[in-house]
Amino acid sequence: MLLAFFFGTLISRSSSLILKDDVGKLPALGWNSWNAYHCDITESQFITAAQKLVDLGLKDAGYEYVNIDDCWSDKDHRDADTNRLIPNTTRFPDGIKGTADKIHDLGLKIGIYSSAGTKTCAGYPASIGYEDIDAATWAEWGIDYLKYDNCNVPQNWTDECRGCVPENRPDLVNGTCTSTTDLCPSGYDFSQSNTAERYRIMRDALLSQNRSILYSLCEWGEASVQQWGNSTASSWRMSGDIDPAWSRILTILNENSFYLNNVDFWGHSDADMLEVGNGISIEEARTHFAFWAAMKSPLLIGTDLEQVPRDEVDVLKNSYLLAFSQDGLYGKPAMPYKWGTNPDWTFNASFPAEYWSGASSNGTLVLLFNPYNDTRSKTADFGEIPGLGDGKYQVTDIWSGKDMGCVDWKIDVDVEAHDTAGYLVGDGCY
Ligand SMILES: *[C@@H]1O[C@H](CO)[C@@H](O)[C@H](O)[C@H]1NC(C)=O
Ligand SMILES: *[C@@H]1O[C@H](CO)[C@@H](O)[C@H](O)[C@H]1NC(C)=O
Ligand SMILES: *[C@@H]1O[C@H](CO)[C@@H](O)[C@H](O)[C@H]1NC(C)=O
Ligand SMILES: *[C@@H]1O[C@H](CO)[C@@H](O)[C@H](O)[C@H]1NC(C)=O
Ligand SMILES: *[C@@H]1O[C@H](CO)[C@@H](O)[C@H](O)[C@H]1NC(C)=O
Ligand SMILES: *[C@@H]1O[C@H](CO)[C@@H](O)[C@H](O)[C@H]1NC(C)=O
Ligand SMILES: *[C@@H]1O[C@H](CO)[C@@H](O)[C@H](O)[C@H]1NC(C)=O
Ligand SMILES: *[C@@H]1O[C@H](CO)[C@@H](O)[C@H](O)[C@H]1NC(C)=O
Repeated sequence: MLLAFFFGTLISRSSSLILKDDVGKLPALGWNSWNAYHCDITESQFITAAQKLVDLGLKDAGYEYVNIDDCWSDKDHRDADTNRLIPNTTRFPDGIKGTADKIHDLGLKIGIYSSAGTKTCAGYPASIGYEDIDAATWAEWGIDYLKYDNCNVPQNWTDECRGCVPENRPDLVNGTCTSTTDLCPSGYDFSQSNTAERYRIMRDALLSQNRSILYSLCEWGEASVQQWGNSTASSWRMSGDIDPAWSRILTILNENSFYLNNVDFWGHSDADMLEVGNGISIEEARTHFAFWAAMKSPLLIGTDLEQVPRDEVDVLKNSYLLAFSQDGLYGKPAMPYKWGTNPDWTFNASFPAEYWSGASSNGTLVLLFNPYNDTRSKTADFGEIPGLGDGKYQVTDIWSGKDMGCVDWKIDVDVEAHDTAGYLVGDGCY
């Protein structure tokens, strides 16, 4: 109770979600079951994933959460006496508490899933109206992270206007809708929407537990979450679901590139879970991972770690990108400094911005992306990059780790189809 009061005070004062022990300050790193297994889950997959995080060196690289997605509970009932969710003991023989203990014993943390509706997306009991009971249950089980989805919202909780959700909107200019369909009156305060309120109720339920539970919104970018996400949760989804198609990855990259002003310590725009390992090429895996890390999205691996090829594990462990994501001194993400094919600020799902940079403790991260289906030469011209200028800089290639020495004025590179070249540009030459 004392702790609840303490957190509550912090919230009303700073309007931001600050948790103990820096939980949620930096983008979350971990693994989630959905992209690998969807509903077909059993405890052994989670224990295997956790063990693999340890064995493959991913835990040492910073990955810490092992997250259970949809389908973990009894599909038909809550407990008749307590109204608690009941773990499916065919899937989790020792209950979620038993799984949590095993994950914690490996030095990792565990996440759970529900929806701010009557049922989850796969039709399991969900949390609206039961927020306090569910939060208390998860805290008792030792849960460290909640992904909170947006399916099956009761009629009286829906919103008349949904805000500008970029997907499938032909009227977008610069990432913003221009027609009024589905939109709210101008100046509408989305923090007063039913959507924001549904997510705040669970925030408060989690905060009144004596446990730090990272709160991750999965509200699909609706209700202009950019206006209220930072005061509600540690991260918020900016789009609908990812899938392992290259075109989908580019669509999300393009959309999120327009939302990065809202990202800093304690609040992260979630570009959805990683598809590395799920059939995209190694070049595409490099691009996907590099930009998700550079945008400071949460990085949740979504593949079977027993099958994933070594070169893809190496992408997931890239020390330069993980250091950028987890930089304790610089909270802002990398941003485009030039679009490339199209004029700057063009919203185009096939041609997202190609030239990006971001400041970090060890210099400027520079990414050069090739959206074409063949190799293209690209140039990082130091004079064009924020914080740099014409002159000489010490450059390291983030993929090979090679020290390129003192580089004069610019870097010229041939970038393969769908690949991204990346450099850490130090403050000056030694
Ligand atoms: C528990 O999961 C199994 C699949 O592993 C499923 O057949 C069964 O119907 C589930 N039980 C409940 C009560 O949801
Ligand atoms: C919707 O109905 C439920 C159950 O009656 C009620 O608890 C809740 O406050 C209502 N929501 C809104 C936004 O009025
Ligand atoms: C797009 O948005 C950016 C950032 O808000 C702004 O600098 C730029 O001028 C805008 N471009 C257009 C065409 O509106
Ligand atoms: C809260 O949790 C901590 C750490 O687990 C424990 O030491 C403390 O007694 C708990 N406080 C209350 C009020 O339950
Ligand atoms: C989100 O809130 C935190 C904590 O108050 C603050 O440090 C951060 O700058 C905020 N993010 C943005 C983009 O304003
Ligand atoms: C900076 O370099 C140090 C030493 O190699 C490393 O430990 C740290 O993670 C790096 N940080 C960033 C943001 O690159
Ligand atoms: C996206 O940009 C490309 C390259 O300029 C252009 O050919 C294509 O028509 C654009 N797509 C849309 C939907 O505007
Ligand atoms: C690359 O090839 C795919 C599949 O043939 C095609 O749909 C896409 O438009 C091509 N992209 C570019 C940038 O040419």
